[in-house]
Amino acid sequence: MAFESKIKTIEWVDNVSRMIDQTVLPKEYKTVDIKTDKEMFFAIKDMIVRGAPAIGIAGVHGVSLAAIELSKSITDKSEFLSKLKERGEYLKSSRPTAVNLMWGVNQQIELASKTQGNIDEITKALIENGIKLENEDIEINKKMGDYGAQVVPKGATILTHCNAGALATVGYGTALGVIRSAFAKDPTIKVFADETRPRQQGARLTTWELTSDGIPTTLITDGMCSYFMSKGMIDMVVVGADRIAANGDTANKIGTYTVAIAAKYHNIPFYIAAPLSTIDISIKSGKEIPIEERSHEEVTHINGDWICAKDVNIINPGFDVTPNELITGIITEKGILKPDFKTSINNALKS
Ligand code: MRU
Repeated sequence: MAFESKIKTIEWVDNVSRMIDQTVLPKEYKTVDIKTDKEMFFAIKDMIVRGAPAIGIAGVHGVSLAAIELSKSITDKSEFLSKLKERGEYLKSSRPTAVNLMWGVNQQIELASKTQGNIDEITKALIENGIKLENEDIEINKKMGDYGAQVVPKGATILTHCNAGALATVGYGTALGVIRSAFAKDPTIKVFADETRPRQQGARLTTWELTSDGIPTTLITDGMCSYFMSKGMIDMVVVGADRIAANGDTANKIGTYTVAIAAKYHNIPFYIAAPLSTIDISIKSGKEIPIEERSHEEVTHINGDWICAKDVNIINPGFDVTPNELITGIITEKGILKPDFKTSINNALKS
Protein backbone atom coordinates (compact mmCIF):
# COMPACT_ATOMS: atom_id res chain seq x y z
CA MET A 1 0.00 0.00 0.00
CA ALA A 2 1.37 3.41 -0.95
CA PHE A 3 1.48 6.30 1.48
CA GLU A 4 1.18 9.59 -0.39
CA SER A 5 4.12 11.99 -0.10
CA LYS A 6 3.61 15.50 -1.47
CA ILE A 7 7.32 16.17 -1.98
CA LYS A 8 8.35 16.54 -5.66
CA THR A 9 12.10 17.02 -5.55
CA ILE A 10 12.82 17.64 -9.22
CA GLU A 11 10.41 18.33 -12.04
CA TRP A 12 10.47 19.55 -15.65
CA VAL A 13 8.29 22.68 -15.85
CA ASP A 14 8.06 25.08 -18.85
CA ASN A 15 11.47 24.11 -20.27
CA VAL A 16 13.37 24.44 -16.97
CA SER A 17 14.31 21.88 -14.32
CA ARG A 18 12.61 22.98 -11.09
CA MET A 19 14.12 21.52 -7.92
CA ILE A 20 13.84 21.88 -4.16
CA ASP A 21 16.97 23.64 -2.87
CA GLN A 22 18.30 21.05 -0.40
CA THR A 23 21.11 23.27 0.84
CA VAL A 24 18.71 25.45 2.85
CA LEU A 25 16.29 22.86 4.26
CA PRO A 26 14.87 22.62 6.89
CA LYS A 27 15.28 26.32 7.75
CA GLU A 28 13.77 27.40 4.47
CA TYR A 29 11.72 25.68 1.75
CA LYS A 30 12.33 27.09 -1.72
CA THR A 31 12.63 25.85 -5.29
CA VAL A 32 15.14 26.92 -7.91
CA ASP A 33 14.80 26.84 -11.69
CA ILE A 34 17.81 25.42 -13.51
CA LYS A 35 17.93 26.78 -17.05
CA THR A 36 21.21 25.51 -18.59
CA ASP A 37 23.38 22.39 -18.40
CA LYS A 38 26.12 24.52 -16.81
CA GLU A 39 23.75 25.55 -14.01
CA MET A 40 22.81 21.88 -13.68
CA PHE A 41 26.47 20.88 -13.29
CA PHE A 42 26.76 23.21 -10.28
CA ALA A 43 23.35 22.28 -8.86
CA ILE A 44 24.58 18.67 -8.69
CA LYS A 45 28.12 19.48 -7.52
CA ASP A 46 26.95 21.91 -4.82
CA MET A 47 24.19 19.51 -3.78
CA ILE A 48 21.18 21.74 -4.40
CA VAL A 49 19.95 18.40 -5.73
CA ARG A 50 21.46 15.25 -4.20
CA GLY A 51 20.72 11.58 -3.67
CA ALA A 52 21.48 9.01 -6.36
CA PRO A 53 18.11 8.69 -8.18
CA ALA A 54 17.49 12.48 -7.98
CA ILE A 55 20.84 13.28 -9.57
CA GLY A 56 20.06 10.62 -12.20
CA ILE A 57 17.00 12.68 -13.21
CA ALA A 58 19.06 15.89 -12.89
CA GLY A 59 21.47 14.40 -15.45
CA VAL A 60 18.53 13.57 -17.74
CA HIS A 61 17.19 17.14 -17.46
CA GLY A 62 20.71 18.50 -17.93
CA VAL A 63 20.96 16.84 -21.35
CA SER A 64 17.52 18.22 -22.32
CA LEU A 65 18.68 21.73 -21.31
CA ALA A 66 21.88 21.30 -23.34
CA ALA A 67 19.81 20.19 -26.36
CA ILE A 68 17.55 23.26 -26.09
CA GLU A 69 20.58 25.56 -26.00
CA LEU A 70 22.48 23.82 -28.82
CA SER A 71 19.39 23.73 -31.04
CA LYS A 72 19.41 27.55 -31.08
CA SER A 73 22.77 27.81 -32.85
CA ILE A 74 23.45 24.46 -34.61
CA THR A 75 21.69 23.22 -37.73
CA ASP A 76 23.89 20.24 -38.63
CA LYS A 77 22.63 17.06 -36.91
CA SER A 78 25.98 15.30 -36.51
CA GLU A 79 27.55 18.44 -35.03
CA PHE A 80 24.57 18.71 -32.65
CA LEU A 81 24.96 15.08 -31.54
CA SER A 82 28.69 15.39 -31.01
CA LYS A 83 28.32 18.61 -28.94
CA LEU A 84 25.48 17.02 -26.96
CA LYS A 85 27.76 14.09 -26.10
CA GLU A 86 30.44 16.51 -24.88
CA ARG A 87 27.92 18.30 -22.67
CA GLY A 88 26.83 14.91 -21.32
CA GLU A 89 30.42 14.05 -20.35
CA TYR A 90 30.66 17.41 -18.61
CA LEU A 91 27.47 16.74 -16.61
CA LYS A 92 28.74 13.27 -15.61
CA SER A 93 31.90 14.79 -14.17
CA SER A 94 29.94 16.77 -11.52
CA ARG A 95 29.89 13.88 -9.00
CA PRO A 96 31.64 10.51 -9.42
CA THR A 97 30.04 7.93 -7.10
CA ALA A 98 26.30 7.67 -7.84
CA VAL A 99 25.99 5.61 -11.01
CA ASN A 100 22.45 6.91 -11.59
CA LEU A 101 23.95 10.15 -12.92
CA MET A 102 25.87 8.23 -15.60
CA TRP A 103 22.76 6.08 -16.25
CA GLY A 104 20.58 9.18 -16.78
CA VAL A 105 22.99 11.02 -19.07
CA ASN A 106 23.89 7.89 -21.10
CA GLN A 107 20.18 7.08 -21.69
CA GLN A 108 19.59 10.55 -23.12
CA ILE A 109 22.68 10.51 -25.35
CA GLU A 110 21.69 7.09 -26.68
CA LEU A 111 18.11 8.26 -27.29
CA ALA A 112 19.37 11.36 -29.14
CA SER A 113 21.52 9.29 -31.46
CA LYS A 114 18.73 6.77 -32.17
CA THR A 115 15.95 9.31 -32.76
CA GLN A 116 15.02 9.77 -36.40
CA GLY A 117 14.22 13.31 -37.46
CA ASN A 118 15.64 16.79 -37.10
CA ILE A 119 17.24 18.55 -34.13
CA ASP A 120 13.91 19.91 -32.87
CA GLU A 121 12.40 16.44 -32.94
CA ILE A 122 15.38 15.03 -31.02
CA THR A 123 15.09 17.79 -28.40
CA LYS A 124 11.37 17.09 -28.01
CA ALA A 125 12.08 13.36 -27.57
CA LEU A 126 14.66 14.10 -24.84
CA ILE A 127 12.24 16.33 -22.92
CA GLU A 128 9.46 13.75 -23.17
CA ASN A 129 11.79 10.99 -22.01
CA GLY A 130 12.72 13.10 -18.95
CA ILE A 131 9.07 13.49 -17.97
CA LYS A 132 8.50 9.75 -18.47
CA LEU A 133 11.52 8.88 -16.28
CA GLU A 134 10.32 11.25 -13.53
CA ASN A 135 7.00 9.40 -13.34
CA GLU A 136 8.70 6.00 -13.52
CA ASP A 137 10.98 6.94 -10.61
CA ILE A 138 7.99 7.46 -8.30
CA GLU A 139 6.32 4.25 -9.50
CA ILE A 140 9.53 2.26 -8.96
CA ASN A 141 9.87 3.68 -5.43
CA LYS A 142 6.33 2.69 -4.56
CA LYS A 143 6.98 -0.85 -5.79
CA MET A 144 10.14 -1.02 -3.67
CA GLY A 145 8.14 0.32 -0.75
CA ASP A 146 5.60 -2.47 -1.07
CA TYR A 147 8.25 -5.21 -1.27
CA GLY A 148 10.25 -3.72 1.57
CA ALA A 149 7.23 -3.30 3.86
CA GLN A 150 6.80 -7.09 3.81
CA VAL A 151 10.02 -7.59 5.79
CA VAL A 152 9.37 -4.88 8.41
CA PRO A 153 8.36 -6.57 11.68
CA LYS A 154 5.21 -5.32 13.43
CA GLY A 155 5.95 -2.32 15.62
CA ALA A 156 9.59 -2.23 14.45
CA THR A 157 12.05 0.56 15.10
CA ILE A 158 13.99 1.09 11.86
CA LEU A 159 17.37 2.79 11.71
CA THR A 160 18.31 4.73 8.58
CA HIS A 161 21.42 6.65 7.57
CA CYS A 162 21.70 9.79 5.40
CA ASN A 163 18.61 10.66 3.35
CA ALA A 164 17.27 8.08 0.93
CA GLY A 165 13.86 9.67 0.86
CA ALA A 166 11.59 11.65 -1.45
CA LEU A 167 14.33 14.29 -1.43
CA ALA A 168 16.88 11.83 -2.82
CA THR A 169 14.55 10.74 -5.65
CA VAL A 170 11.80 12.42 -7.65
CA GLY A 171 9.39 11.50 -4.87
CA TYR A 172 8.47 8.86 -2.23
CA GLY A 173 12.03 7.64 -1.66
CA THR A 174 13.87 4.33 -1.60
CA ALA A 175 14.73 3.51 2.04
CA LEU A 176 12.20 6.09 3.26
CA GLY A 177 9.76 4.72 0.66
CA VAL A 178 9.99 1.35 2.45
CA ILE A 179 9.35 3.18 5.73
CA ARG A 180 6.38 5.10 4.23
CA SER A 181 4.80 1.88 2.91
CA ALA A 182 5.44 0.05 6.20
CA PHE A 183 3.91 2.96 8.16
CA ALA A 184 0.80 2.91 5.95
CA LYS A 185 0.28 -0.75 7.00
CA ASP A 186 1.40 -0.38 10.59
CA PRO A 187 1.36 3.09 12.20
CA THR A 188 3.16 1.73 15.28
CA ILE A 189 6.54 1.60 13.50
CA LYS A 190 9.19 4.17 14.46
CA VAL A 191 12.38 5.49 12.93
CA PHE A 192 15.82 6.32 14.28
CA ALA A 193 17.68 8.69 11.93
CA ASP A 194 21.48 9.05 12.04
CA GLU A 195 22.44 12.73 11.76
CA THR A 196 25.02 11.83 9.04
CA ARG A 197 28.10 13.96 9.47
CA PRO A 198 29.46 15.99 7.82
CA ARG A 199 26.57 17.36 5.74
CA GLN A 200 23.79 16.31 8.13
CA GLN A 201 21.43 14.88 5.50
CA GLY A 202 19.86 12.73 8.25
CA ALA A 203 19.32 15.63 10.65
CA ARG A 204 18.37 18.24 8.06
CA LEU A 205 16.47 16.25 5.46
CA THR A 206 15.32 12.87 6.82
CA THR A 207 13.83 14.27 10.03
CA TRP A 208 12.10 17.02 8.02
CA GLU A 209 10.63 14.54 5.55
CA LEU A 210 9.48 11.95 8.05
CA THR A 211 8.05 14.29 10.66
CA SER A 212 6.21 16.18 7.88
CA ASP A 213 4.48 12.87 7.13
CA GLY A 214 3.75 12.26 10.83
CA ILE A 215 6.13 9.29 11.10
CA PRO A 216 7.61 9.17 14.64
CA THR A 217 11.34 9.85 14.29
CA THR A 218 14.21 10.06 16.78
CA LEU A 219 17.40 11.82 15.73
CA ILE A 220 20.68 10.29 16.96
CA THR A 221 24.31 11.16 16.27
CA ASP A 222 26.28 8.74 14.08
CA GLY A 223 28.29 7.23 16.93
CA MET A 224 25.19 6.20 18.89
CA CYS A 225 23.87 3.42 16.65
CA SER A 226 25.68 0.46 18.26
CA TYR A 227 24.64 1.66 21.74
CA PHE A 228 20.96 1.57 20.77
CA MET A 229 21.44 -1.76 18.98
CA SER A 230 22.97 -3.26 22.13
CA LYS A 231 19.94 -2.08 24.12
CA GLY A 232 17.62 -3.97 21.73
CA MET A 233 16.11 -0.70 20.53
CA ILE A 234 16.70 -1.20 16.77
CA ASP A 235 14.92 -4.01 14.89
CA MET A 236 16.20 -3.44 11.38
CA VAL A 237 18.29 -1.10 9.23
CA VAL A 238 17.24 0.24 5.80
CA VAL A 239 19.50 2.54 3.79
CA GLY A 240 19.80 3.64 0.16
CA ALA A 241 22.65 3.15 -2.30
CA ASP A 242 24.73 5.20 -4.71
CA ARG A 243 26.25 2.31 -6.62
CA ILE A 244 25.94 -1.46 -6.27
CA ALA A 245 28.62 -3.67 -7.84
CA ALA A 246 27.82 -6.95 -9.62
CA ASN A 247 28.59 -8.88 -6.40
CA GLY A 248 26.27 -6.74 -4.24
CA ASP A 249 28.96 -4.60 -2.56
CA THR A 250 27.23 -1.26 -2.01
CA ALA A 251 28.48 2.32 -1.88
CA ASN A 252 26.36 4.64 0.22
CA LYS A 253 26.92 7.72 2.38
CA ILE A 254 30.02 7.62 4.57
CA GLY A 255 29.18 5.89 7.86
CA THR A 256 26.90 3.25 6.30
CA TYR A 257 29.64 0.59 6.56
CA THR A 258 29.98 1.24 10.30
CA VAL A 259 26.21 0.81 10.74
CA ALA A 260 26.34 -2.47 8.76
CA ILE A 261 29.14 -3.89 10.93
CA ALA A 262 27.25 -2.95 14.10
CA ALA A 263 24.05 -4.52 12.71
CA LYS A 264 25.87 -7.79 11.89
CA TYR A 265 27.37 -7.96 15.40
CA HIS A 266 23.93 -7.50 16.96
CA ASN A 267 22.13 -9.85 14.52
CA ILE A 268 19.96 -7.07 13.14
CA PRO A 269 18.79 -7.33 9.49
CA PHE A 270 20.52 -4.78 7.25
CA TYR A 271 18.71 -3.92 3.99
CA ILE A 272 19.62 -1.77 1.02
CA ALA A 273 16.71 -0.20 -0.92
CA ALA A 274 17.65 0.84 -4.45
CA PRO A 275 16.27 0.76 -7.99
CA LEU A 276 17.97 -1.58 -10.48
CA SER A 277 19.43 1.53 -12.18
CA THR A 278 21.78 1.81 -9.15
CA ILE A 279 23.43 -1.50 -10.07
CA ASP A 280 26.65 -1.15 -12.05
CA ILE A 281 27.03 -4.58 -13.62
CA SER A 282 30.25 -3.45 -15.33
CA ILE A 283 32.17 -3.59 -12.06
CA LYS A 284 32.84 -6.86 -10.27
CA SER A 285 33.20 -5.57 -6.71
CA GLY A 286 32.99 -2.48 -4.54
CA LYS A 287 36.75 -1.97 -4.80
CA GLU A 288 36.17 -0.45 -8.25
CA ILE A 289 33.61 2.14 -7.11
CA PRO A 290 35.06 5.69 -7.34
CA ILE A 291 34.66 7.46 -4.02
CA GLU A 292 34.07 11.20 -4.05
CA GLU A 293 36.45 13.30 -1.94
CA ARG A 294 34.56 16.38 -0.79
CA SER A 295 35.57 19.80 0.46
CA HIS A 296 37.54 19.83 3.70
CA GLU A 297 35.42 22.69 4.92
CA GLU A 298 32.54 20.24 5.41
CA VAL A 299 34.60 18.73 8.25
CA THR A 300 36.41 21.76 9.65
CA HIS A 301 33.30 23.96 9.86
CA ILE A 302 29.82 23.76 11.33
CA ASN A 303 27.42 26.50 10.27
CA GLY A 304 30.33 28.57 8.97
CA ASP A 305 32.36 28.34 12.21
CA TRP A 306 35.74 26.61 12.57
CA ILE A 307 35.43 23.68 14.98
CA CYS A 308 39.00 22.38 15.06
CA ALA A 309 42.67 23.38 15.09
CA LYS A 310 43.52 25.34 11.93
CA ASP A 311 46.54 23.22 10.86
CA VAL A 312 44.96 19.78 11.37
CA ASN A 313 44.96 17.30 8.43
CA ILE A 314 41.58 16.50 6.88
CA ILE A 315 40.29 13.63 4.72
CA ASN A 316 36.65 13.73 3.65
CA PRO A 317 35.41 10.78 1.57
CA GLY A 318 31.70 11.22 0.82
CA PHE A 319 30.91 7.50 0.64
CA ASP A 320 32.02 4.09 1.87
CA VAL A 321 31.43 0.58 0.58
CA THR A 322 29.52 -2.03 2.57
CA PRO A 323 30.73 -5.54 1.63
CA ASN A 324 27.95 -7.84 0.40
CA GLU A 325 28.35 -10.29 3.32
CA LEU A 326 26.95 -7.64 5.67
CA ILE A 327 23.79 -7.15 3.58
CA THR A 328 20.63 -9.16 4.36
CA GLY A 329 18.82 -8.18 1.17
CA ILE A 330 18.60 -5.59 -1.60
CA ILE A 331 15.07 -4.25 -2.00
CA THR A 332 14.41 -3.42 -5.67
CA GLU A 333 11.36 -2.79 -7.86
CA LYS A 334 11.57 -6.45 -8.94
CA GLY A 335 11.55 -7.87 -5.42
CA ILE A 336 14.05 -8.43 -2.62
CA LEU A 337 17.37 -9.82 -3.85
CA LYS A 338 19.07 -12.26 -1.49
CA PRO A 339 22.60 -13.72 -1.34
CA ASP A 340 24.33 -14.87 -3.35
CA PHE A 341 23.91 -11.43 -4.87
CA LYS A 342 25.90 -12.15 -8.00
CA THR A 343 23.22 -14.62 -9.06
CA SER A 344 20.18 -12.73 -7.75
CA ILE A 345 21.36 -9.45 -9.35
CA ASN A 346 21.94 -11.19 -12.67
CA ASN A 347 18.50 -12.78 -12.60
CA ALA A 348 16.78 -9.49 -11.69
CA LEU A 349 18.51 -7.63 -14.52
CA LYS A 350 17.59 -10.34 -17.02
CA SER A 351 13.90 -10.64 -15.99
O1 MRU B 1 25.93 12.96 -0.87
P1 MRU B 1 24.48 12.62 -1.05
O2 MRU B 1 23.57 13.35 -0.11
O3 MRU B 1 24.05 12.74 -2.49
O4 MRU B 1 24.42 11.09 -0.65
C1 MRU B 1 23.18 10.44 -0.70
C2 MRU B 1 23.22 9.05 -0.23
O5 MRU B 1 24.25 8.49 0.13
C3 MRU B 1 21.92 8.31 -0.30
O6 MRU B 1 21.80 7.40 0.75
C4 MRU B 1 21.88 7.54 -1.63
O7 MRU B 1 22.08 8.44 -2.69
C5 MRU B 1 20.64 6.82 -1.83
S1 MRU B 1 19.33 7.90 -2.23
C6 MRU B 1 17.91 7.12 -2.54
